[in-house]
Amino acid sequence: MELDGSCCVKTTKASLSRRCKQMIKVRKLTKIYRMGKVEVPALREVDLDIPKGQFVAIMGPSGSGKSTLMNILGCLDRPTSGEYYLDGDDVSKKSDNQLAEIRNQCIGFIFQSYNLLSRIDATSNVELPLIYRGVPPRERRDRAIKALEAVGLARRAGHKPNEMSGGEQQRVAIARAIVGGPKVILADEPTGNLDSRSGEEIMVIFQELHRQGITIVLVTHDPDIARHSERIISLKDGRILSDEMVQDPLDARELLAAMPQPDVSA
Ligand SMILES: Nc1ncnc2c1ncn2[C@@H]1O[C@H](COP(=O)(O)OP(=O)(O)OP(=O)(O)O)[C@@H](O)[C@H]1O
Ligand SMILES: [Mg+2]
Repeated sequence: MELDGSCCVKTTKASLSRRCKQMIKVRKLTKIYRMGKVEVPALREVDLDIPKGQFVAIMGPSGSGKSTLMNILGCLDRPTSGEYYLDGDDVSKKSDNQLAEIRNQCIGFIFQSYNLLSRIDATSNVELPLIYRGVPPRERRDRAIKALEAVGLARRAGHKPNEMSGGEQQRVAIARAIVGGPKVILADEPTGNLDSRSGEEIMVIFQELHRQGITIVLVTHDPDIARHSERIISLKDGRILSDEMVQDPLDARELLAAMPQPDVSA
């Protein structure tokens, strides 16, 4: 199934007219985890607008609510209260099935630990979102190969995750996230497990996706990674502590070119 450009599965006049400048808009977003009688507030009345095509980094100490926010933005979890509009669509009113469809159609999620299926090769991993969408096998394969080419991994298409480096596995995960043509990419510490060169290679891909107009929200603990984005939002105790535009974002391609070549003779 093709995206209709509005992050709504069916295009109607109403959905077209709802298209707006903000890809993500949240108001008073609150998440309280309940563990028995103990309440853990993870997000406290967060207001946030992310315009279409923006590349945003989210930082903040451990436990500040970054993953909680990402999981709600990615429709993997629901807020306790507050509003969330994705491309003008009120996500809080959706059923679980509709949320699954939005995840499949509109969102590419990338995790620190890749989350690939270990028994199948890179191409089959990348094909997965298209299987859920009912795309025929041949088209699935073609699109998966194209996505792997986009992340520079066509030659690894037949490899299983345990036959690849961490950086390569993360690139497969990015290919899986982009194969369906998402409007938003959400990446929770995508470079957290990687050496600096592999991390920079991942940032080259994110900056290219940004140039193509995809909205990107990336969580990181690393200020240098954050400086590859256009805007850095810091969370603390479930609230936005600061929200600043990056004056002169780092260029991953330039940084990568300046890094020493990996020792291939070893
Ligand atoms: N499933 C859960 N049940 C109960 N409490 C949770 C759950 N998930 C997160 N929390 C709590 O919510 C708060 C925010 O957690 P969250 O995982 O969003 O933080 P984070 O900023 O992503 O941290 P990190 O940098 O360590 O990944 C923390 O106090 C955490 O202990
Ligand atoms: Mg986290």
